[in-house]
Amino acid sequence: MEHTQPVVSLRGVTKRFDDVAAVDRLDLDIQDGEFLALLGPSGCGKTTTLRMIAGFEQPTEGEIHIGGEPVVGVPAHKREVNTVFQQYALFPHLDIIDNVAFGLKQRGVKKAERRRQAAEALGMVRLSGRENAKPAQLSGGQQQRVALARALVMRPKVLLLDEPLGALDQKLRKAMQIELKRLQADVGITFVFVTHDQEEALAMADRIAVMDQGRIEQLANPRELYDEPATSFVAGFIGDMSTVNGTVSGDVAELPGGMKVPLGRRLTECANGARVRVGLRPECGTFRPTAGADGNATVATAMVLGDRLQVIAKVGDGDEVLLRQARTPSDDAAAALRPGDPLVIDFHPGAGLLLAPHGGEDRAIAATGFEDADPAAVIS
Ligand SMILES: Nc1ncnc2c1ncn2[C@@H]1O[C@H](COP(=O)(O)OP(=O)(O)O)[C@@H](O)[C@H]1O
Ligand SMILES: [Mg+2]
Repeated sequence: MEHTQPVVSLRGVTKRFDDVAAVDRLDLDIQDGEFLALLGPSGCGKTTTLRMIAGFEQPTEGEIHIGGEPVVGVPAHKREVNTVFQQYALFPHLDIIDNVAFGLKQRGVKKAERRRQAAEALGMVRLSGRENAKPAQLSGGQQQRVALARALVMRPKVLLLDEPLGALDQKLRKAMQIELKRLQADVGITFVFVTHDQEEALAMADRIAVMDQGRIEQLANPRELYDEPATSFVAGFIGDMSTVNGTVSGDVAELPGGMKVPLGRRLTECANGARVRVGLRPECGTFRPTAGADGNATVATAMVLGDRLQVIAKVGDGDEVLLRQARTPSDDAAAALRPGDPLVIDFHPGAGLLLAPHGGEDRAIAATGFEDADPAAVIS
């Protein structure tokens, strides 16, 4: 795998718009047949990177190769790539089949053959039978599938997708994620998928390039990004993470008040006694209510998320930690937790990720949010 020639390769690619480096000395190798996600916050350079691969934008500096050939200066329509945008703009007056066959027609493919290929592409996106509908007769999700068929029918080496599910509602979006992933595995075409939604990237991609400020912070598979983040930005951007202040003491961080967090990975070297920021994942430990004096935290918020319980607990000198655990039907006491209730948190070995010295650069905090709770399930 490692030694095959990448289907797309970027070397030292920079794109400047006036003073802004939208993409900053980017190196990236995309392997043939993989599903790669470019993930990062708005404005980090994802679209610009994709547009340079597509040929809609030329780099200010650097080299891009597609299928081993240098492509800088080669116009978009001469590259073996196709793009699916969020705004998929089908031709409203053309039947679905003619929308899909449009590019083949421009390529000079004969009518019978392009209809055959377009029908096959519509089959891939499960729209057989809708050949003679007009775009307005289809739902948003179906229209997006037509846009996909229109790109697939051209048999590109690489399909570029720029937030293609952004216009769909949450439920349809989830269904399309599964469908797209399956489709990509079936057709074997390399997908480069841009999204700012980490859950979407985790659900679909073989590998994810996490971008920030025009650079790739880490390129790895989903498990590695979650378990072995290379930077505090990645740690905060992928998955939920709370951060707490503590002091290093051997292989634990001691929080104000004496709570001990066993440390696992360290993103920075810190001596004993150093004050540090420690990252905690929602599954870093378990929690239970207590009536006795063994409490080491208090409840700020508690929620029942269907099959899971979630608390935001106050620890140390007021830092908040988000914890989630499976809920069993007999968990009545835990499900009835209210703000201010005492809590026992038991951390698992290696629970804490040592992020940065306290007061040092910690971009994880900005990227972290406790937003995925269902307000309807809030019990307190
Ligand atoms: N055509 C353009 N002219 C000027 N600035 C641009 C242009 N396109 C993108 N930018 C800037 O480049 C940066 C990266 O943009 P973009 O690649 O669209 O980010 P993303 O897709 O990750 O949201 C942003 O600061 C954006 O404002
Ligand atoms: Mg974009």
